[in-house]
Amino acid sequence: MSIETKNTQVNVYTDFHLQYISGEWKKGDDDSINTNTNPFNGETLVEIQQATDKQLDEAYQAASEAQKQWAKQTPNERAAILYKVVSIFDQRQDEIVDWLIKESGSTRIKAMVEFSSARAITLEAASFPNRVHGEIRPSNTPGKENFIYREPMGVIAVISPWNFPLHLTQRSIAPALALGNAVVLKPASDTPITGGLLLAKIFEEAGLPKGLLNVVVGSGSEIGDAMVTHHVPSLVSFTGSTSVGKHIGELANGGDYIKQVALELGGNSPFVVLKDADIEQAVKAAAFGKFLHQGQICIAINRIIVEDDIYDDFVTRFVAHVKTLNVGDPSKIDTAVGPIINEKQVESLKEKIAKAQDEGAKMLLSGEIKGQVVPPHVFSEVTREMDLSCNEVFGPLVGIIRAKDEDDALSIANDSMYGLSSAVFTQDMAKGLRFARDIKAGMTHINDISVNDESNAPFGGEKNSGIGRFNGEWILEEFTTLHWISVQHTPRDYPF
Ligand code: TAP
Repeated sequence: MSIETKNTQVNVYTDFHLQYISGEWKKGDDDSINTNTNPFNGETLVEIQQATDKQLDEAYQAASEAQKQWAKQTPNERAAILYKVVSIFDQRQDEIVDWLIKESGSTRIKAMVEFSSARAITLEAASFPNRVHGEIRPSNTPGKENFIYREPMGVIAVISPWNFPLHLTQRSIAPALALGNAVVLKPASDTPITGGLLLAKIFEEAGLPKGLLNVVVGSGSEIGDAMVTHHVPSLVSFTGSTSVGKHIGELANGGDYIKQVALELGGNSPFVVLKDADIEQAVKAAAFGKFLHQGQICIAINRIIVEDDIYDDFVTRFVAHVKTLNVGDPSKIDTAVGPIINEKQVESLKEKIAKAQDEGAKMLLSGEIKGQVVPPHVFSEVTREMDLSCNEVFGPLVGIIRAKDEDDALSIANDSMYGLSSAVFTQDMAKGLRFARDIKAGMTHINDISVNDESNAPFGGEKNSGIGRFNGEWILEEFTTLHWISVQHTPRDYPF
């Protein structure tokens, strides 16, 4: 089958039932099958025979071998591949967006947001080969010169989640490859295509030499540990839950080989509305920042905290606005809330709804759960101790907490083991900046939602939300290492 694009006709990618190892598309050797389904209608998209530990080893060996030559390529040669990837993204935009809708249950709006983010980080990464540089430092030893080389890490293991599969994978693999590394990637089992195989097709078409990018499809519980403990990778870039992230952190430093880790983990973003805020704008922002992708975003609004003076007004307007959102088929242009990724997540949301009611929260908005589509549920009179406040919801449910005053709002906002993103609404910029700086988080947005990601701004969290920062020069440093080389130009006078 072929598709019309702006300038030309291209064949749509096929054969997603295969693994991508050592630059070849091959069948997985494991007995188990990943049945990849559309979360909205249950249709089987593809069945993938999973990879074995032996195939994982093959991928790591291929990556290790290919990386040596890749690191020696000129910056422009590496950048050229990334620029080609950007142009393939543009050419195949409809195909990519379509996969995001059918595989990850993305609404069309979310799929476009994700496509744009993945494209932006690819473009940013294309600048990295020519931005990376070393230093010459003075020496206190007579006759010596100190050179500090910034080198690739070698092989990077990437493990990515299902919620923003294309972007959260690409934001690791594009910088990693641009900086002269090779990659072995394990996408989430719910999104092996948009989180991995589709990107492999794109890089292959762009001319990336064989072996530099390997996509191994297998379950985290089966091959996850081997991904981390294998001797080849020197860095594990993991995005996912805090519980699995902690496990990976322990594994990476508890075995025979010490590895660096970049961990992007869970969140519990507060969205604070202070009494002088533009309430109408705050209501619209809260709805978008909460319900985009059904709330399945690590930086989604998890707690809405509103100052007492405007609490009732905000709640009334918020419920009225959320009632207008279209719920259902994600492929329809005007759908705001689509399906939940899998049945297990739907069950966990049903439990959360029951628990919120048991704990005394007032359910102001609900609706019938049909298949995997959970309509927005809004609760008021939620307290900081309730499950809805303490834990990451990862679904279209939200609790609105009443804060006595600004200090109380800040105390509630910081009352979490997470510290990823956050937001505050106020018309007083000095107050907003002061409040933002007092929030313990990696990211805070004044008069905007907590869901923001820009390819040239540092993305990452504090506390149990992880270690490290993505994007711009922060990922450039994270995915490279330093080598101090000194030259003794004149004979040194040793004491003995
Ligand atoms: P996880 O269950 O943690 O899965 C993430 C990835 O880890 C998947 O590829 C999974 O593979 C793999 N995995 C599972 N067990 C493993 C093991 N023992 N060793 C190695 N890998 C293993 O998270 P999820 O359910 O996909 O995503 C939701 C969570 O991720 C939320 O907490 C969310 O906040 C967080 N998240 C954080 C961010 C950032 S940027 N901080 C972004 C997105 C999501 P399988 O799919 O095969 O199990």
